[in-house]
Amino acid sequence: MKNPIRLAILGSGNGTNAQQISEYFIARTDVEVCCIIYNKRDAYIAERAKNLGIEARYFGRKDFYETTTVLDYLRAKKADWVILAGFLWLVPENMLEAYPNRIINIHPALLPKYGGKGMYGHHVHEAVVAAHEKETGITIHIVDNHYDQGTTLFQARCKVTPDDTPESVAAKIHLLEKEYFPRVIDETIHR
Ligand code: GAR
Repeated sequence: MKNPIRLAILGSGNGTNAQQISEYFIARTDVEVCCIIYNKRDAYIAERAKNLGIEARYFGRKDFYETTTVLDYLRAKKADWVILAGFLWLVPENMLEAYPNRIINIHPALLPKYGGKGMYGHHVHEAVVAAHEKETGITIHIVDNHYDQGTTLFQARCKVTPDDTPESVAAKIHLLEKEYFPRVIDETIHR
């Protein structure tokens, strides 16, 4: 048996995607979620990791950008891929170098629309509703050193109707994320 492919998940908030990815791979012998890293002390993602029995670690700005602390941890955990699941900081240069084309992000819009600095979570859905868009969706992409600009792996769309609110759009997006993010990760890491 080959060693399992090891995924490190990075998140900043609620952690629904981290949970869905972890549950998708839980019974698999070829893929393992080896750790969940978060950068907001009170993020609910830590609670989810605990419930899933996955090691979770908090790291602050210094650990990401001024030292190799996070990278050292990823190496100690033998992570093969880094999955950004609602991670809201720019990926540090040392991580991009250590994981070239091995960092995957999900963005809750149809990039290149509604991407870039400050465009995350509810801000995206508010902008989509304010612009009276007729559709929105998710983009899963490889991460490079610009916000939301790496190679696109996958997009899925959903309709936006005149009575949609940022909250109802968020709910549609979460359904797409649940349906596709784990599967696209699965395909990409086995290519
Ligand atoms: C998700 O909708 C994800 O697409 C988005 O944050 C949410 C995190 O939810 N990511 C971004 O906006 C990245 N720019 P979760 O913590 O419940 O998975």
